[in-house]
Amino acid sequence: MDQTLYFILILIALCSVSECVQRQYYFINVQKSWTEAQRYCREKYTDLATVDNMNDMNEVKKGMTYERVWIGLQKTGVDKWHWSSGDPVLYLNWATGQPNSGAYCAVMRNGQWYDYSCSNGLTFVCSSSNNGLVFVNQMKNWRDAQSYCRQYHIDLVSVRNQNENQQLQKFINDNHISGDVWIGLFRDSWQWSDQSDSSFRYWYTGEPNNAGGIENCAEMRPDIHGQWNDIYCNNQYSFVCHEDKLILIKENLTWSEALRYCRQNHVDLAAVHSEEMQLEAMNVVQQASTEAVWLGLRQSRILCIWFWVRGETVCHQNWENDTSEVCESAETSGAVQCGGDQRWISFPETEKLNFICSNYE
Ligand SMILES: *[C@@H]1O[C@H](CO)[C@@H](O)[C@H](O)[C@H]1NC(C)=O
Ligand SMILES: *[C@@H]1O[C@H](CO)[C@@H](O)[C@H](O)[C@H]1NC(C)=O
Repeated sequence: MDQTLYFILILIALCSVSECVQRQYYFINVQKSWTEAQRYCREKYTDLATVDNMNDMNEVKKGMTYERVWIGLQKTGVDKWHWSSGDPVLYLNWATGQPNSGAYCAVMRNGQWYDYSCSNGLTFVCSSSNNGLVFVNQMKNWRDAQSYCRQYHIDLVSVRNQNENQQLQKFINDNHISGDVWIGLFRDSWQWSDQSDSSFRYWYTGEPNNAGGIENCAEMRPDIHGQWNDIYCNNQYSFVCHEDKLILIKENLTWSEALRYCRQNHVDLAAVHSEEMQLEAMNVVQQASTEAVWLGLRQSRILCIWFWVRGETVCHQNWENDTSEVCESAETSGAVQCGGDQRWISFPETEKLNFICSNYE
């Protein structure tokens, strides 16, 4: 990289986080059954819409008209545990013999988890910005607690690993909270059309209710501000498709080969500009066959700075060890680890890894 490019980089050192949407949503104004809509989306885009979190939901709402629309959620009949926030469930801390009551929600008691009927009134802990926790000293059922957290904070708290479990337990002890508190863990038998593990749900109050025992698909309704309702799958509605913006390629290539592949077949090697995109990248790399996957991160040996190959400076950072100031002697590129916290690490560019392409300009 030469001196000229260095000056260009300084001029464009702006992070436009608002542009970092992970999926592109498309409203299709043709009436189809859920299954026909699914087929259409899989042919023209990636799949019927998956909604991972409140950011995605706000993005979808932007395209909403007065029409009821299908989204990609369908009932399978097999229950699974999920986090309300949409975080993948990689860690569970059930007390011995739990879950055992057939209930659909979970509480924390002395640092361990118990299943508990969702309709009970309990106090609860919300997650707030900057990994903060907020105790809400009001008795609410699980669903109302979830709505409260989403309205005033972020969501009901997720406990993603042992460290977070200890933090939450300490928070509960420090605040002298006694008795059970709701955490964001719940189970249901709904599954996204694209098989993603997303556990985000945005049901309207009292839904899903499986009226008449035939409601196995989910619609989004403008008359209830985009909240969801379960309904008969053969009804004819318009629908929302999505296209993934990041795609994992499970080939083992060097960084330069990966760059060429992405530019020929998609748009570019992926850049991760924000925490939302980091989350999306974390979802995508779960299927990888190598220990890390290439990103479009590159280090200039002359200037000793890291940059994204599409020309942006690195604003959002997620390094395993902060090597951003260390000048490597060989050509170095950046990859994201597939396990653990999935932080970034640098590799010689001759390493052969899976990689993530982006599908958008
Ligand atoms: C890529 O490398 C990994 C780890 O060495 C290996 O398990 C996998 O089979 C390789 N994939 C291909 C497509 O060669
Ligand atoms: C990061 O630093 C720690 C502690 O110095 C070290 O054990 C670890 O191997 C480093 N990770 C990488 C990927 O270099």
